[in-house]
Amino acid sequence: MAWNEQLYRDIMDGLQVDKEFITEAAGAFRWDLEQGLQGSEHSSLAMLPSYIGLPTGKETGEYLTLDFGGSNVRASLIRLSGNGKFAVSRQVRKSLVSEEYNLICAEATCEKLFDFLAQVIGEAIEGNQAQTYYLGHTFSFGSKQEDINTARLIKWAKEFAVPGVEGQDINALLTAALNRAGLDNVKPVAIINDTVAVLLATAYSYPDTRIGSIYATGHNTCYMEPMPDVGRPPCVLNMESGGFSKLVPTKWDIELDEASEQPGRQRLEKMVSGRYMGMLYSQLIRELFNLSTTPELSAADMSAIMGDEAEAARIVISLLGYTNSEIVEKLRELAKAITIRSARLVAATWAGTLWHLSGQGKIEPQHIAVDGSVYQLMPHVQENVRRALYEILGDEAGGIEPVLVKDGSSVGAAIAAAVASNGQ
Ligand code: BGC
Repeated sequence: MAWNEQLYRDIMDGLQVDKEFITEAAGAFRWDLEQGLQGSEHSSLAMLPSYIGLPTGKETGEYLTLDFGGSNVRASLIRLSGNGKFAVSRQVRKSLVSEEYNLICAEATCEKLFDFLAQVIGEAIEGNQAQTYYLGHTFSFGSKQEDINTARLIKWAKEFAVPGVEGQDINALLTAALNRAGLDNVKPVAIINDTVAVLLATAYSYPDTRIGSIYATGHNTCYMEPMPDVGRPPCVLNMESGGFSKLVPTKWDIELDEASEQPGRQRLEKMVSGRYMGMLYSQLIRELFNLSTTPELSAADMSAIMGDEAEAARIVISLLGYTNSEIVEKLRELAKAITIRSARLVAATWAGTLWHLSGQGKIEPQHIAVDGSVYQLMPHVQENVRRALYEILGDEAGGIEPVLVKDGSSVGAAIAAAVASNGQ
């Protein structure tokens, strides 16, 4: 199979984002954020109010949570004990896609999807219909909220395509499905984005946290805005930063966007998130070897390739039928280049947000809440985020502490349910 060395060099060059590029990206992100705050149509950031502020740390009680935002859903029972303490007493996790069914594609139906969610919730409470449960729902798609419990899906992302859900009130759909399942005792009281959930969960233990980010299959960041609008109280804003569109894409980013479910949307997400890094890597490998079909490599495969030479050789054999050490090395370098670009671009958006929060002054030392498999597991990500923050912010980066949140989506949903049901 023909290897195109010139194309490889062009790709590797195209994936470089140097200090100047990321510093400009951070500035452009701040500009978009501030334009978005004023409702300008020139901003690519949605800046969606979440109708909730940061927790006091005193929220307590037991809550049911639903975490719905990727191909796995989770329902959990969470006990909040205050002062950052919580315990997960039960958790049920199910996939929305299996060999027998696919509940997220264009052929799926809204009713089947929500009936499945109700079933998972039913399992988490072991069918108990006698007790009232307040449910916090982490719904990880851009939604327009009207209050803490009403969120209308604007557009699917992450290649979800179920018809009949866009524009709908998500917790109303869930409530109807719970009723169909005979679970009237489960009361959805709050719905939040996953970025908001990780921010709430982290701020529960680290009150200096102002920014929450998901760096996983999808990507997005929210932050606590002290002045969201004239007359509105301080509120967490979901920026839907995956939609940031002011970066110059490479020719390959454009090709990937055009082949995706929603061309033109989620441009940053398509350059940085796990779902799309795997797609980009696969597409580049097809072009480099002039393959007739595109291999289906995921971000997890990229991690394996970067992390272990023997594993890399095994994957290369499965793709090409042979291996040699030079090709293995080049494919490892390619995976690394895509990953490092992703980490540096995400850091740029955080830096832009920190600049906004600091106004004209110094950036306050603070934690940044981060959740997600890419941040947690992909080689090279964490150190390159940190390096990029230093390149953009200089010494002020020293006070910034990204913290990896475990169970953030569920704990944040429990906190939101506590706030909404006055359990504080
Ligand atoms: C969604 C966001 C979400 C992010 C991370 C994106 O595709 O639009 O709402 O926060 O994924 O899950």
